[in-house]
Amino acid sequence: MDSCLHPGRQPRHLEEGAGPQDSSSEVDTEALRTDGPLGDLNEVEPSLQSLQKFAPANYASYTQEYYRFAGKKIVIQESIESYGAVVWPAAMALCQYLEEHAEELNFQDAKILEIGAGPGLVSIVASILGAQVTATDLPDVLGNLQFNLLKNTLHHTAHLPEVKELVWGEGLEEHFPKATLSYDYVLASDVVYHHYFLDKLLATMAYLCQPGTVLLWANKFRFSTDYEFLDKFKQVFDTTLLAEFPESSVKIFKAMLKWD
Ligand SMILES: C[S@@+](CC[C@H](N)C(=O)[O-])C[C@H]1O[C@@H](n2cnc3c(N)ncnc32)[C@H](O)[C@@H]1O
Repeated sequence: MDSCLHPGRQPRHLEEGAGPQDSSSEVDTEALRTDGPLGDLNEVEPSLQSLQKFAPANYASYTQEYYRFAGKKIVIQESIESYGAVVWPAAMALCQYLEEHAEELNFQDAKILEIGAGPGLVSIVASILGAQVTATDLPDVLGNLQFNLLKNTLHHTAHLPEVKELVWGEGLEEHFPKATLSYDYVLASDVVYHHYFLDKLLATMAYLCQPGTVLLWANKFRFSTDYEFLDKFKQVFDTTLLAEFPESSVKIFKAMLKWD
């Protein structure tokens, strides 16, 4: 189990005024020089040197993609070599929803876990909106995820996001002990597609939710399996359709675990 950055406030030597409210907190590509996989992080924060081991090394080619959400430019390093290294349509839709409903969602200091975070766009937007984020995924995705989170949040958000391995249905009690769980939100975008882990995914979603936890699940509906999953999902969660994006076939659901 990898745990890269620990959650909490940002490193103490934050620049004056840097933070989510500060217009100077746009992604500063100079602050993390791009001449190496992690730029010159050693000079930025010596205690973060260990992060270099999470530099993405397992994909042959990358592109830099630019997004704008919650008033900030976000740069994501993507690779078409992995499902988990590109931003999927439901992530875009969920980010749009989060920025448009920031006030009512009230992410400020909220505890949030994202499953199947991929290259990290949703977790980055949640961090920009003030949340304490734990972004999770399969082990081989974590390097690029960590890179993108760090690049877009170090010295720019109130809380530094954490990255943790979370394989659906495996070692949950060991790595995420039930007694310690207190997430305000669990986020998931485009985690339901053509694979064999849908029962484990549903069990993991249920496991991570406590009374009061809100699960926001965004999904592009492509296959009959998406609708089959939705039927099972509704048996486990009280479910409300929050938004629909007909042009992309993405739906966003709010769900709370049924406790009776
Ligand atoms: C289609 S991608 C979506 C990525 C991101 N959420 C987005 O919308 O851009 C699905 C993600 O689920 C992750 N995933 C797939 N199977 C998984 C499993 N069994 N356990 C944990 N994560 C898994 C993949 O690594 C990938 O990052």
